[in-house]
Amino acid sequence: MDEEKPKSARLTQVKDTYRVSLRLMKFLWFVDNRMFVGSFVAYTIPAVIPFLNIYIYQLVIDAVVKAVTSGGMVNYHQLYTLFAFRIATYFIQDVALRSQNLLERLYWTKVPIYLNDILLRRTASLDMYYYENSQFRDLLEKSRDSITFKPQQLADLLFSSGQSLLQLLIAFVAIARLNLFLVILVASISIPEFFVQVRLSRLAWGIWSNQSPYRKKFWYLSNLLQRSWDIKEVKIFQLADRFLAELKDIQKKFYQENAVLAKKNYSLNIGFNILSTLIFVGVEIFVVMQAIAGKITVGGISFYTGVVSNFQNGLSGLFSNIRGVFEDSLYVKSIFDILDLEPYVKQPDDPVKLDIRKTPRIEFCNVTFKYPDSHKKVLKNFSLTINPGEKVALVGENGVGKTTLIKLLARFYDVTEGEILIDGVNLKDLSLDQWYKMMGVLFQDFNRYEHTAKDNIAFGKIYEQIEPEEVTKAAMSAGAHEMIKGFEQGYEQMLGKTFEMGLELSGGQWQKIALSRAFLRNAPVLVLDEPTAAIDAKAESEIFNRVEKLSRDKTVIIISHRFSTVRNADKIYVINRGKIIESGSHEELMGLDGKYATLFKLQAKGYQ
Ligand SMILES: Nc1ncnc2c1ncn2[C@@H]1O[C@H](COP(=O)(O)OP(=O)(O)OP(=O)(O)O)[C@@H](O)[C@H]1O
Ligand SMILES: [Mg+2]
Repeated sequence: MDEEKPKSARLTQVKDTYRVSLRLMKFLWFVDNRMFVGSFVAYTIPAVIPFLNIYIYQLVIDAVVKAVTSGGMVNYHQLYTLFAFRIATYFIQDVALRSQNLLERLYWTKVPIYLNDILLRRTASLDMYYYENSQFRDLLEKSRDSITFKPQQLADLLFSSGQSLLQLLIAFVAIARLNLFLVILVASISIPEFFVQVRLSRLAWGIWSNQSPYRKKFWYLSNLLQRSWDIKEVKIFQLADRFLAELKDIQKKFYQENAVLAKKNYSLNIGFNILSTLIFVGVEIFVVMQAIAGKITVGGISFYTGVVSNFQNGLSGLFSNIRGVFEDSLYVKSIFDILDLEPYVKQPDDPVKLDIRKTPRIEFCNVTFKYPDSHKKVLKNFSLTINPGEKVALVGENGVGKTTLIKLLARFYDVTEGEILIDGVNLKDLSLDQWYKMMGVLFQDFNRYEHTAKDNIAFGKIYEQIEPEEVTKAAMSAGAHEMIKGFEQGYEQMLGKTFEMGLELSGGQWQKIALSRAFLRNAPVLVLDEPTAAIDAKAESEIFNRVEKLSRDKTVIIISHRFSTVRNADKIYVINRGKIIESGSHEELMGLDGKYATLFKLQAKGYQ
């Protein structure tokens, strides 16, 4: 896997690590520059203090040796001063460590809020293509897993790396003063260690990255076993054991892959520790010899062994930190990768302005469309003109592309060929913000907001202050008013079972709420995709009588498999294999005795 990557890929990884780290640091600075500086200082102090300590200790030992060898002549003033310094350094060290801790807590309650905010803003701005694409889902999965703690971990590792580096530099200078060769010896073991650590981190990332599809599956299956709307089928079809077995398989894979990594980590680390211990003990012996030869004092032994041990700490600290930086930057990269995604559908810089209150003419001109990543043309040379105020119905078998037409009209996707014109203006030249204000849409898979009934409806026109009467009027048109009044809390009734005091509704009741939302928008173009699939026949006919009156000057596009819904439309279009095969009023199409008539008779027969 990762190990066989060519050199250029490794170089890219180094560059990526650098970029991600820099970006994270900039981001932290941006969130709170004072805390950033505070953290910097809090991480610097613990790198310096240990050297002061061992230096003070050297002076203490030398003073003692001097006192012993000179027959009891003790310089108490010097000793007290040294101990006073020692207390001071302990105190400073303690304050630095505690501040580091405090700052970390404060910083990391602030940063995730910012990070989540920009990430959610970005994902909300991306178009449908991404949401219907499995690679994007993988990326989302990765970022979801890592956003909670990886950025914090990476920031900590970066600060700690700086700390270790500083520690190393000071030790380096101190040892170099004694003997330059020693520095080279000590530094030489760092190079292979560095490569081992980087390799381990790449291995870890490779495993984690490859596991992303399983993790997606893991969450998907867990959700199936835990969500109320999934559990019904799971129970009745007795699917739980099957899904649990799949979950177990996934966990086994996780375990096996992680075990390989852990074992590799273990043996490589043991190997290197033996090597580095040998070298450092050699250095210590050298220092003792220097003291015996009188080149350094007795206190010097303690100082230099201290420095060497600091060097060793600094070195292993630096390497494990850098390794961590390599590893975590890969995780954090998935977050930045999402932030860098751009919507496919590009909005015009200088959009054509339309009167958003006027009902426009809608034209599909020779539209051919295939979904990205798919070869199948869902629409082929499809043309359709809908005049302002027309009530049209689209009918056709499952999967012929009716919902796709609506997605194109909403510019969730751009057409592959041809164009969609709104009052003669290409849809691509309109501001979507404006165009959406002209459309009320009830999707086939509408949302069920776990908010109050009132909010559920008012969400239809979030960009305006709305009067309570508007909400009631929309609910009346959709046949939802009586139902809502019957709720214990009326329009203030919390819906859904997620939150306390929430009321779960039936499928048809939810659909009436969603229909009210579409009506409330009161837009010149109303699109209803299977608006009454779950609504009873009596309510349906009442709703359509009202739609007629409500929207005389508005365009209504209805998609339905129910002929009772369709038959009153001004014009009915029968779609098959991405093309319109018949069109006309109900009577005309019945007279034609084609596909529509056949289907209508088939459905009618069922009622006789
Ligand atoms: N995101 C997608 N990526 C690729 N193909 C898709 C996607 N969404 C839908 N399709 C395909 O496009 C075709 C048309 O789907 P569409 O949802 O428009 O059908 P429909 O006419 O609304 O059907 P129904 O009556 O069942 O609602 C189907 O063959 C479907 O497999
Ligand atoms: Mg559909």
